[in-house]
Amino acid sequence: MNSTTQTLSALTGLPTDPSLALSFCGITFATPLVLLSGCVGFGEEYTRVEGFSNRHVGAVVLKGTTLNARLGNPAHRVYETSMGMLNAIGLQNPGTDAVIQSILPQLDFSETRFIANVSGSTIDEYAEVTRRFDDSPIDAIEINISCPNVKEGGVAFGNYPEMSARVVAACRAVTKKPLITKLSPNQTDIAKNAQACIEAGSDALSVINTVMGMAIDAQTRKPVIGNVQGGLSGPAIKPIALLKVHQVYQVAKKHHIPIIGQGGITNTEDALEFLIAGASAIGIGTSLFYDPHVCLKMNSGIAAYLQRHGLRSVTELTGTLQLPG
Ligand SMILES: Cc1cc2nc3c(=O)[nH]c(=O)nc-3n(C[C@H](O)[C@H](O)[C@H](O)COP(=O)(O)O)c2cc1C
Repeated sequence: MNSTTQTLSALTGLPTDPSLALSFCGITFATPLVLLSGCVGFGEEYTRVEGFSNRHVGAVVLKGTTLNARLGNPAHRVYETSMGMLNAIGLQNPGTDAVIQSILPQLDFSETRFIANVSGSTIDEYAEVTRRFDDSPIDAIEINISCPNVKEGGVAFGNYPEMSARVVAACRAVTKKPLITKLSPNQTDIAKNAQACIEAGSDALSVINTVMGMAIDAQTRKPVIGNVQGGLSGPAIKPIALLKVHQVYQVAKKHHIPIIGQGGITNTEDALEFLIAGASAIGIGTSLFYDPHVCLKMNSGIAAYLQRHGLRSVTELTGTLQLPG
């Protein structure tokens, strides 16, 4: 038994064989499950749920962080749709220094890996936030160039490969920590953008952020969301996300760049589909609002599938899609 499988067994209580652990950009994830940015605050929220433990997940991505504190958008900020939710939080956060000085010291880095989620209105801001996180205990840095809910930055960078590459290059210049770029589905050719981000120095890709959407109250004839538009997440976007992961994987596999697949993953079957499409890790976001214990079920569901299919490690499943012809 190697040290990775020992760790997994100790952390999750799951059978040591097959292994759910993986090395992601050189850091060990105990399981392929990653709690997504904006869905678990700054990592402290789910520890209050009885039976939940950060030890069941490979990593937790913290809420999007900008250089200075932001209050976010006016209400309403979230709206439940028939198969998911619209949100336009507007990157509410206490600012980089507050996250580093007050929040990071409270996180238990022995439980799981913690990833910062970086945003900015300018390339310089992205780089400065990244530089400050580089000088902190954070395990990795995710660049959010795909937030649809802010007027400056966000998708203004993420929808254009050249702009995306400039943000990635600026962040790359100030950190040696693993750099993950979070790609937007709201663009013409996501694979082209992935290629540009990889060439600019991204070590991994998150695919996808939310899909732009809107809700209208027919009685008042007003938009429901204060920001007028929001980002759609949850089961409604799963088929879109799956295709984007498949498309990005065609580029990423040539460079051995891992993908955190995400968008509407709700159960074991969803998680397996994203792994088969090319994801190395699986992001869990909106489904946590419906079932905080979804990760426990997925860990045992994925392990049971691997056992049934004679696979010894979850890494053997990534990118095993059988295309016709
Ligand atoms: C309420 C809410 C807040 C979010 N905040 C952020 C954020 O700060 N940074 C970011 O990169 N993504 C953010 N996201 C996007 C999620 O991290 C995730 O990429 C997206 O919701 C798709 O996954 P899901 O369908 O499993 O939720 C947010 C999503 C939700 C629902």
